[in-house]
Amino acid sequence: MAEELILSTKNSSKEEVYISLTPQIKALIEGEEDLVANLANVAAALKEAFDFFWVGFYIVKNNQLVLGPFQGPIACTRIGYGKGVCGTSWKENKTIIVDDVNEFPGHIACSSLSQSEIVVPIARNNEVVAVLDVDSDKLSQFDEVDQKYLSQIVEYINF
Ligand code: SME
Repeated sequence: MAEELILSTKNSSKEEVYISLTPQIKALIEGEEDLVANLANVAAALKEAFDFFWVGFYIVKNNQLVLGPFQGPIACTRIGYGKGVCGTSWKENKTIIVDDVNEFPGHIACSSLSQSEIVVPIARNNEVVAVLDVDSDKLSQFDEVDQKYLSQIVEYINF
């Protein structure tokens, strides 16, 4: 496939963008077995489509989350089990949507500009192997539409 996303963002709802983006991400990564390459392209595709403040992956390594491919400002490299939004999503194997990160006890502020966040756990054989973290510099930017499509997108990734 061409290394170019086709996105009609003008007057499109968030869901319409996800509907056009999701199969393109699937096509982009299904022919490639390298994990880093695929995580990098998924982060880039989401950044390009939605201009999120920060989008990237933390990968479970030696009982910590370690920063993986991402798009956005530099970020914390390691997060403990149960720590912050990412570590809580890992522990609970549950998507977490935070409307206002200042209200989330234990939130890890990699950037003071980050205002809201969604973290989607990626589980294989019932074990969390990574999380997808998306941050916005605006409050309340994430909802069940993001949860639905981001959960679908991470399923395509071959861990
Ligand atoms: N805010 C996250 C840490 C990761 S950065 O936002 C990229 C957390 O509380 O887990």
